[in-house]
Amino acid sequence: MRDIDKEMKAKEIRLGRESDIHDWMILIDKVKASFPGLEAEEAMEEHKDTVLSFIRKQSAICAIKDNKIVGTLLFSKENHMLCFLAVDAEYRRQHIAEKMVSYMLTFMDPEEDIVVTTYREGVPEGIAARAFYKCLGFTEGKLTEEFGSPVQEFVFKR
Ligand SMILES: CC(C)(COP(=O)(O)OP(=O)(O)OC[C@H]1O[C@@H](n2cnc3c(N)ncnc32)[C@H](O)[C@@H]1OP(=O)(O)O)[C@@H](O)C(=O)NCCC(=O)NCCS
Repeated sequence: MRDIDKEMKAKEIRLGRESDIHDWMILIDKVKASFPGLEAEEAMEEHKDTVLSFIRKQSAICAIKDNKIVGTLLFSKENHMLCFLAVDAEYRRQHIAEKMVSYMLTFMDPEEDIVVTTYREGVPEGIAARAFYKCLGFTEGKLTEEFGSPVQEFVFKR
């Protein structure tokens, strides 16, 4: 077994399963304030369908601790994108997000840069995410907009 697989097993980082959806959405409900547009009930229903479609294409990762889902990550192999990332506030700064990103990289084309969009500089909600991506070696990219909100791309260069 490769070292990364052993580590993932010990930390309970794995691909999501359809049977996870209930617990998965409990976590999303806790973190939704960090994601503009997720507050509305219909947006949560839409996100649930999105999670299920990512699970079905093996592009959804979760972290389990204390028998709970405490972290989730969605990614696109085709678009080389990290699409969604959140860790339960009670479990942050334990390298859970870092482990999920490392696991995601094992599914990605090693030749392709990986892009994520997050808050622009100066927004309090973006401090953790921007520091996190920089710590992992992502660099600041284009300023763009997403769902009508100003965001910035971060790029993991290969
Ligand atoms: C961003 C987020 C996913 C990070 O999850 P996490 O599991 O706490 O991150 P990790 O423990 O793996 O962090 C790894 C490193 O990133 C940096 N980092 C993470 N959070 C940080 C923060 N709040 N402030 C400064 N640096 C931070 C640190 O260097 C950290 O290593 P250290 O703890 O040894 O110093 C989490 O804070 C979160 O879910 N935030 C709300 C949702 C969000 O912003 N998602 C991303 C939107 S695109």
